[in-house]
Amino acid sequence: MKITVIGAGNVGATCANVCAQNELANEIYLVDIKEGVAEGKALDMWESSPIGLYDSRIIGVTNDYEKTKDSDVIVITSGIPRKPGMSRDDLIATNAKIVKTVTENSIKYSPNAKIIVVANPLDVMTYTAYLTAKIDSSRVFGMAGILDTARFRSFIASELNCSPKDIQSVLMGGHGDTMVPLTRYTTVSGIPVEELIESNRLNEIVERTKKGGGEIVNLMGTSAWYAPGAAAAQMVESIVKNQNRIFPCCCWLTGQYGMKDIYLGVPCKLGSNGIEEILELKLNDQEMEMLNSSAEAVRGVLSVLDDMNLF
Ligand code: LAC
Repeated sequence: MKITVIGAGNVGATCANVCAQNELANEIYLVDIKEGVAEGKALDMWESSPIGLYDSRIIGVTNDYEKTKDSDVIVITSGIPRKPGMSRDDLIATNAKIVKTVTENSIKYSPNAKIIVVANPLDVMTYTAYLTAKIDSSRVFGMAGILDTARFRSFIASELNCSPKDIQSVLMGGHGDTMVPLTRYTTVSGIPVEELIESNRLNEIVERTKKGGGEIVNLMGTSAWYAPGAAAAQMVESIVKNQNRIFPCCCWLTGQYGMKDIYLGVPCKLGSNGIEEILELKLNDQEMEMLNSSAEAVRGVLSVLDDMNLF
């Protein structure tokens, strides 16, 4: 098994580190455009292997895609992160070109890989990778829902002073402020969260979740990496171990939820073939309305990509 993580910035390095610590592959390649950065971070991680007791080899390379040949999974984290005051959508002009180049280079050497996109604006960058790779949409998908539900679940755990392990949730839509945390599908050890947290307070937690990425940007001056990196690694794990776990991921829709020709966050089953199945929930009118608004927001960003004439 071979995993490649493109971009040795904070998110990419964290993802590679979690993959290595969990021994998800014998070889994990970390690629960056800046001379020495991937090599340095990979060496640092490898030096922690006798402490963490794992034997996945982490190899850093500068822009040498040939070394990533025959990867089973490629995680694309390249691109610039947000600064305070920026929305994820402000990154499109720079990141679309980067994601296109990186995808071309990756797929050339690993035509059978599954591609996980992490770069922002997530839904549109996943589409960019799909257009570039020209492979089945079951093999190109984005990481956002695991991160966004993790934020929601962590806030609920804090609120109830209980373990985050016991909280399950579904969140749909684009990876932006219009995302749709579904309280009706959120439970604490099987108990509907709506029975445990009164609705006004729950709404506050939902609103905090929607702006969860921005909260961290405002605190640190750049975007998050621990939760995003770990979330991407969880997707890698489900693929390389063929776990068929069910997560919200950014998937290409072909009529599900009445939508097509769009990448959007929906619950899916993730296994060795990539997206094995998209699950269609019986959303009520209000939930469907929120999902439609989120899809509209993503379509707005898609039109910016169209105007760039990259394809
Ligand atoms: C976030 C970035 C990674 O939500 O999109 O933190």
